Amino acid sequence: MSSNRISINDIDLDEIENLPTIRNLPRSKVRSKPTANKSRLCVQPIQDEIAQLVEQPDGEDHFNFTYSASHHERQWIVNSLGGFYDSQWLDDVLHLIKGGKEAHVYQCLANPSVPNLEQPYLAAKIYRPRMFRNLRKDHVYREGRQNLDENGHAIINSGMIHAMHRHTAYGQELLHTSWVEYEFQALCVLFEAGADVPHPYARGNNAILMSYIGGDDVSAPTLNTVDLRQKEARQLFDRVLHNIQVMLDHHRVHGDLSAYNILYWNGDITLIDFPQVVDPQVNRNAFGIFERDVTRICEYFASQGVKSNPRRIAADLWKAHDLRQMPEVHPALLDEEDETDRAFWQSQSGS
Ligand SMILES: Nc1ncnc2c1ncn2[C@@H]1O[C@H](COP(=O)(O)OP(=O)(O)OP(=O)(O)O)[C@@H](O)[C@H]1O
Ligand SMILES: [Mg+2]
Repeated sequence: MSSNRISINDIDLDEIENLPTIRNLPRSKVRSKPTANKSRLCVQPIQDEIAQLVEQPDGEDHFNFTYSASHHERQWIVNSLGGFYDSQWLDDVLHLIKGGKEAHVYQCLANPSVPNLEQPYLAAKIYRPRMFRNLRKDHVYREGRQNLDENGHAIINSGMIHAMHRHTAYGQELLHTSWVEYEFQALCVLFEAGADVPHPYARGNNAILMSYIGGDDVSAPTLNTVDLRQKEARQLFDRVLHNIQVMLDHHRVHGDLSAYNILYWNGDITLIDFPQVVDPQVNRNAFGIFERDVTRICEYFASQGVKSNPRRIAADLWKAHDLRQMPEVHPALLDEEDETDRAFWQSQSGS
């Protein structure tokens, strides 16, 4: 089992410009800025260049944290998480759990006032400014779905829609916010429904705060790095399928589900990483996306000794939820052995 901690040297933050500012933070318990406590003062001078590029939030002058970051990364963290600090969600940023092309996730020390904490930590996921622009075939996921503003409402303003359509800087910022909102909403709905997902606590335009999975020193590994005993593999496979059903019950297909997006800790699983969720009722690509999710899960569990038929599972679940493949041919009505049916299936699922 491997730790998810990586070195600060692995970080390359070349996209700090275009960072959206934080909005929509719960302000019910705003922290008054400390004046006496010098240990919280940020002593880093703001370079003129950065100051021009990045709007500094309220918390910048006193949000200091333990994690040792490069200057650029520190600015990025302060801008993305400073509002959470001000609102007393978190008191410190401790470690980088994982930094990648799309987002960085940090282990943070929670403020003791945060409700229902099982341990003193929170995980903060900060999105890279251009991550969603780099998402391959993003239209496949966006098909049929409305873009959401920072309050989670569908964007109906024609100027905003035009900006997104034209991919202006403003439009791209709106699209970025919408992806983050989709992830946060999916977490809220699925957590409420009892799915095995992190407890979502708060969101900014560029970050999500959720329960942290792992121990004091090591965060939970992703399932793809774990070898399971056969009995446990069978149980966890059933558990993942249960979660997939809960998602369908709530009109969500994960869209990037695999053992890489499932955390494993103390024998339990937690599904993560939801910005690309699709609605199976409106997205015409949904079945193909769903079948791919199911297939990837089955492939991992096959490597752990649990054999299954992903196509059959996907078709049966789809049918059980009364969902239709578009055009109007239900996958369960197709015969895998029939050449014509098979060709139709492949054209529909993109395989
Ligand atoms: N709530 C959490 N608790 C502990 N670790 C987490 C949590 N959420 C995410 N992580 C860690 O951060 C990593 C990246 O998270 P996530 O998959 O949501 O972002 P991502 O940018 O899509 O990353 P990737 O491209 O690697 O899938 C995860 O693989 C996991 O190691
Ligand atoms: Mg991921």
